[in-house]
Amino acid sequence: MKAFTSLKAGVLGGGQLGKMLIQSAADFNIDLHVLDPDGEAPCSKLTPYFTQGSLQEHDTVVAFGKDMDVLTIEIEKVNAQALSWLESNGVQVYPQPHIVRMIQDKREQKKYYQTHGFPTSDFILINNPEDIKQHSSFLPAFQKSAKDGYDGRGVQKINTLEDIGKALPGEGLLEKAVDIKKEISVIVSRNAKGQTSTFPAVELVYHEGQNLVDYLIAPADIATEIEEKAKSLALRLVKELEFVGLLAVEMFVNQQDEVLINEIAPRPHNSGHQTIEANITSQYEQHLRAILGLPPGDTALVCPSAMVNLLGEPGYQGEANYQGIEKILAVPGVHLHLYGKKITKPYRKMGHVTITGKNRQELAEKVNLVKKSCKVISY
Ligand SMILES: Nc1ncnc2c1ncn2[C@@H]1O[C@H](COP(=O)(O)OP(=O)(O)OP(=O)(O)O)[C@@H](O)[C@H]1O
Ligand SMILES: [Mg+2]
Repeated sequence: MKAFTSLKAGVLGGGQLGKMLIQSAADFNIDLHVLDPDGEAPCSKLTPYFTQGSLQEHDTVVAFGKDMDVLTIEIEKVNAQALSWLESNGVQVYPQPHIVRMIQDKREQKKYYQTHGFPTSDFILINNPEDIKQHSSFLPAFQKSAKDGYDGRGVQKINTLEDIGKALPGEGLLEKAVDIKKEISVIVSRNAKGQTSTFPAVELVYHEGQNLVDYLIAPADIATEIEEKAKSLALRLVKELEFVGLLAVEMFVNQQDEVLINEIAPRPHNSGHQTIEANITSQYEQHLRAILGLPPGDTALVCPSAMVNLLGEPGYQGEANYQGIEKILAVPGVHLHLYGKKITKPYRKMGHVTITGKNRQELAEKVNLVKKSCKVISY
């Protein structure tokens, strides 16, 4: 068997998650090979093994992956059939292609939770927005597209039938609106030997109107019993799926303190960026450890932290111009990550700021300062 340092490892997707994965892989002296359709993707200048090409085209993915020992993803929107072909031709594909395929379709995900007894909000499958009219008693609900939704773009809240004009086209599902007390996320990992780990739960605060994380805070301010419930659900998921890699489990805590699974992402996740500075092992290193068959690292918190996404300011499109950077870098505990995307667009994820600190109050004050001071506009 090859030593892990001599494994040829590839990643489908060359965005910011891939970039931070490369930064972590460098510590293990592993060169990651990266495929991305954008020749100027955040990873393009960070690895000599960057290939520009489609993640959707079967043959492109097969050509890229067939010489790899291990292949992983940093985005779910990839050709899963090509992954299955690679898996049956000797490439270790983690997470496993059949799980990626299930996660790609929100309907399949929800059916999985339902048939395997994982708590999740009630739902109805719909073939088109017209179907919603037959389910007025199920409202208020969230309509979700079956496929290709991301950053809140495949999600629409339908309060009453009067909102039907806002409904999304195509097939999907209607999900009963949960009376949310907290949104949390637990990141869990599992390697092929079955060794697992969980990160402490983090709390997500959403951007009003955008269905996009505004900032998050770690650790989550929840009772120990709720944290344990959330972690055991996340662990049960990776064990029952026999999942290999890193899995982010987004959950809702409702007013009755029940923990419901919202959705899962089989890769490093936005809700784990802060682990770079604030946990002993980062989610990126943990993902690598999981797919390379190494023991999981210690996930304990080093200190409380918050993470703010730097989103493209609405009203600006063009070459990115970062405002207020010097001001925020003068604040103790502020760590800047710019992804290197040339072009900003409204709400595009351009970077993030992690803030480390002593307690929630200090963190909340610094979050406000960062949000007020730092803007991504265009020239
Ligand atoms: N059933 C629900 N009840 C209440 N709120 C919900 C429900 N479903 C979704 N939401 C809200 O909408 C947000 C986005 O939903 P979801 O996570 O399913 O979409 P997404 O587009 O995959 O998001 P992302 O890519 O940002 O994780 C949730 O984080 C939550 O704030
Ligand atoms: Mg989500």
